[in-house]
Formats: sequence, C-alpha cells, structure tokens
Amino acid sequence: MLEHMLFQALSDGVLIMDRNRIIQEINPAATRMTGWETGHKVPYCLFCQYREVEHDEERCLLMGKNAPSYFESEMPTLYGESIPVSFSTTYLPAEDGTVEHTLLMLRDISQKKQEEEARMAKLLARQTIEAQEAERKRLAQELHDGIGQSLYSISMALGLLRQIVPESGTQLFATASATLADTMREVKQLSVTLRPPALDILGLKAALVSLIRQMEQHFSLKITMRYKLPLGLRMSSSMELHIYRIVQEILSNAAKHAKSPVLFLSLRPLSNRFGLRLTIRDKGKGFDPIHVYRHSTGLGLKHLAERTKLLQGSMHISSAPGRGTVLRFVIPFTSTEETDNEKN
Ligand SMILES: Nc1ncnc2c1ncn2[C@@H]1O[C@H](COP(=O)(O)OP(=O)(O)O)[C@@H](O)[C@H]1O
Ligand SMILES: [Mg+2]
Repeated sequence: MLEHMLFQALSDGVLIMDRNRIIQEINPAATRMTGWETGHKVPYCLFCQYREVEHDEERCLLMGKNAPSYFESEMPTLYGESIPVSFSTTYLPAEDGTVEHTLLMLRDISQKKQEEEARMAKLLARQTIEAQEAERKRLAQELHDGIGQSLYSISMALGLLRQIVPESGTQLFATASATLADTMREVKQLSVTLRPPALDILGLKAALVSLIRQMEQHFSLKITMRYKLPLGLRMSSSMELHIYRIVQEILSNAAKHAKSPVLFLSLRPLSNRFGLRLTIRDKGKGFDPIHVYRHSTGLGLKHLAERTKLLQGSMHISSAPGRGTVLRFVIPFTSTEETDNEKN
C-alpha cells in the first residue's frame, strides 16, 4: 500500500514493463512526461533507434544482455515530440530467477540540458575574448619587434644618408623622413591600442589616464575622470583588462558616433564595497539602443555585454536621439576572482 502511494507520488517517472516493453504499470509523473499509459509499448529512444545492432541483438539497450544501469538520451513522447531524459533500470526477476519485468525510472533533464548549454555559451564567449586578447598581444609584439624595429633601422639609415643627399633631393628627403616619422608613431600607437603596456605594470588607473590622454589628443575631446577606487586596490588582471577594454570601446564610440567633445567617466566602489560602479556619459547625439541592438552589425556593444557577463556584472545603457548617452556598469569584485580561479 505504502509502496503504491510512493509510486503514485514520486516526481520522477517510474514504470514497469515486460520483456516486450509493454507497460504494466506507470506512475502519473511518467504519464505527464511522456503521455504513455498502461498497455502502451515503450518506444525506442533516439540513441537505440539509430544505433547499429548485430542481427540477433536486441535493439533496445535496456533489454539487452549488457544493459547499462544509467544512460541519457531523447525519448519520443505520445505527443510526437522528443524530450531529453535520463534512464535507470532495475530488473525484477520472476520466481525462477529469469528476468520478467524491468522497472524503468525516467527523469526529464531538459533543465539540466539548458543549464549545460548556458554554461557552454558562457565558456565559449570567454574563450573567444581570451583568444582575442592573446591574438592582440601577439600582434602588438609583432608590430613592435618586427615592423617597429625595421622602421627604426630605416630611420637610422636615412639619418646617415642625409649627409650625402644632393641639394636637389633635400625636399624629397625631408618629406620621406616626415612620412617615416609619422608611420613610426602610428605603429607605436597601434601596438599600444592592441596591448596597453601601462595596464600590466602600473594598473588600471594609470592605464586609463594614459588612454584618456591619447583619446583627448586624437579626437580633440575633453574627458573628465573621477577615479574613486581605493589606492592600491589591484583587481584580478582579467578584471582590469575587461574594464579597460570596456572604457576603450565606449570612449571610441563617443568619439566616432556621439559628436560631442565632452565626456565624463567615473569609477567608484559600491556602497557595500563588494564591487565597483563604472559610469560613462556623453552629451552627444544619442541613439536608440533597442533599434541598434536589433539592427546594428557593429560588435562593440555586443562585446561590452559579453565582457560584462563574464565579469558577472550588469550593464545599463540609457540613450535617446538628441539626449546623449550614459552607460552604467556594476561589477562585483569577488566573482571575477572566481572567474580567474576557474581558468586555472
Ligand atoms: N555614444 C554614442 N552616441 C551615439 N551613438 C552611439 C554611441 N555608442 C554607440 N552608438 C550607436 O550604436 C551603434 C553600434 O555601436 P557598436 O556596437 O560599438 O558598433 P560600431 O561602433 O562598430 O558602429 C553605432 O553604430 C552607433 O550608431
Ligand atoms: Mg563601437
């Protein structure tokens, strides 16, 4: 009696089937999951439907000689769909010891599957960003050690040649030297953009100050930064790099799209000190975030969202045409340490 009540009340699906997979008894949870009832034949799961079998082998894995006691597959339901389920079996022997019935437990693992997919998507986003950073670092090194060094040699050679250039070539020589100097500056600038050296050595604040100085010079901007994080606070290197990249993207968006020369940036601790708040504001032309989210092919804002997710933080954009733009981020300190640990 108690067994029967338990059988009825279990939230896992349980059924008893005979050697021909005809259901002898089934509990309500299993019926809810699959639509099957007593007298129905349990169909092959997706795995068994398509697996290769010997001519005398039983197609249903659960009925075979070496049946696994647990496995996961997809099961067709009476409603014509397939659901991801885990199976576990127990044999119920007859009095003479032969197997007469099999007790099958079914568990719906859709949620587990979804969680797994979400975890994989997060992992993939992290790996993509990490691979991108590694590639940027490599490119920065190549630029500096390869092209940068070659340009330097050329400039040394030009310096020596200067003495022997005839009068008629002086103008041409000067132009070539000026172009070379510009190119060297650009290469240096590019390698700094690819890999901010100040970040590794001096930390986030110094790297941001130097980024701001460059942006101000290049785009004639006026950027005010309020950096209120405690002096000496060093976050994990991945957290610092993510924040640096976030600021870099937003400043370059403001320079490219906002058409406003004034920008305001602030970094301060949360009142509970468990994280930080980053706010970047421009008074430029603004945009419709929903429209951009749906239609823009740009990757900048999408990468901001991905980086924020990796930091387990939150991002909020408030903007409208003609009303300027504010991006707000809340980023916890602790979770990023975990993110770093997960990597190790
Ligand atoms: N600060 C801003 N002011 C005005 N428009 C912006 C701003 N930031 C982003 N946008 C708009 O959002 C779009 C998408 O930005 P983003 O994803 O960074 O791509 P991209 O910068 O490559 O165009 C931009 O093309 C622009 O229209
Ligand atoms: Mg952009």
